[in-house]
Amino acid sequence: MTLRLSDLIDDRPTDGAFRVNRAIFTDPGVFDAEIRRLFEGGWVFLGIESQAAGPHDFFTTFAGRVPVLVQRDGEGTLRAFVNTCPHKGARLAQVRQGNARLHVCPYHSWTFDSAGRNKAIKWQKAGCYAEAFDRDDHGLKPLPQFANYRGFLFGSVAGEVTPLGEYLGEATKLLDLVADQSEDGLELVPGQVTFTYEANWKLQLENCSDAYHFTSAHPSYIRVLERRQKEMSGDVVASVWENSDYWKEEAEGVGGGSYSFANGHVLNWGVFGITPAIPLYERAGELAERHGEGKRDWMFNMRNVTIFPNLQIAENASSQLRVIRPIAPGLTEMRTWCIAPKGESAGARRQRIRQYEDFFNPTGMATPDDTVSYENCQIGFAGTVEPWLQGYARGMTASVAGGNRFSDRIDLQPERSVLADSQLCDETLYHAYYRAWAARMAGEFEA
Ligand code: FES
Ligand SMILES: [Fe+2]
Repeated sequence: MTLRLSDLIDDRPTDGAFRVNRAIFTDPGVFDAEIRRLFEGGWVFLGIESQAAGPHDFFTTFAGRVPVLVQRDGEGTLRAFVNTCPHKGARLAQVRQGNARLHVCPYHSWTFDSAGRNKAIKWQKAGCYAEAFDRDDHGLKPLPQFANYRGFLFGSVAGEVTPLGEYLGEATKLLDLVADQSEDGLELVPGQVTFTYEANWKLQLENCSDAYHFTSAHPSYIRVLERRQKEMSGDVVASVWENSDYWKEEAEGVGGGSYSFANGHVLNWGVFGITPAIPLYERAGELAERHGEGKRDWMFNMRNVTIFPNLQIAENASSQLRVIRPIAPGLTEMRTWCIAPKGESAGARRQRIRQYEDFFNPTGMATPDDTVSYENCQIGFAGTVEPWLQGYARGMTASVAGGNRFSDRIDLQPERSVLADSQLCDETLYHAYYRAWAARMAGEFEA
């Protein structure tokens, strides 16, 4: 069956209709096009600069199917290479992260330095190579595009892309809210988790922005929090929810809201207030002095940021960075880290890590509920008797063009915004994902 874009996304703003066809989560042709057009056809997030902080440090990742090596050389220059040996294509660096002056290919021992230059071809002199071979560059191929926004590293397999700053647009200000929490920037807390779930990558994309599921999918977590509030008042893990004003109509009746930006980046947020339950509390005064109260208050808001298509940063009682890697229509790999401002006190770091384990880790009390829900959706997507999904309609009449008094506080200019009470749970921010998706996929399907 030949698919048309209008068969996949039913976007009719004048009729107040926005529906998504289940096929976009299951169809192998759609998945293949997503890999080529989104993950190998434009900017994707690669990692954080602190993953390769010192001379010769490196880490590996993927841009779509393309294996990537991000490597710092001895002089401090950071580069991204395609992680494949020019000899017969073997993946060169095998581990997630490390330190190497030289990479020796495990297949035939061609050797490369940390600047990607070929340093040795085994038995070259005896190899009876022709001159044409000698004229070739035997070094590693740089990734066609590589850029660093304040320690957030992005790359593109496609060479012709808009500059990163333009691609991120206003969403740079959301990354600033993370990067500016310390004068020295941010770092990944040592340790990381990789897990897979048997469902489409866009379920993770959507769920980060999904306030609607929280009380439904996480009842056991909420029960534990309630019990702690009664029994363990003062405990660092319990206290953020105890002090949370998010669901209590703060800020003149507004609990939070959502912002959508060009190119599919979105933010949903809630008011927490300046509370000691947030590890940043020790810096509350200093941050207000350095950045002003508006920006400081935003750093204390609950914020779920998606940088389309593969980076999510969630900050509430703790802080998580997630990288989404689609493997098959029904299989996704997640790599997750706790992120933190550099130089925070041992007490704040402890609090951040404990709260991280509690909520974010796959062994915690929330993430398994989410991944099971994604897998349930993937099973349910086979029910194509009615192909159209109805989960994109909440907030339709609340969504307005431009920002509001909250975005104004940090001169943030979204394309659209919604102000919400505790039950609105906007679903129009997904429209930003799928409009960016549709724009990037145009030409792939019949008109
Ligand atoms: S594939 Fe790397 S040396 Fe042969
Ligand atoms: Fe959840």
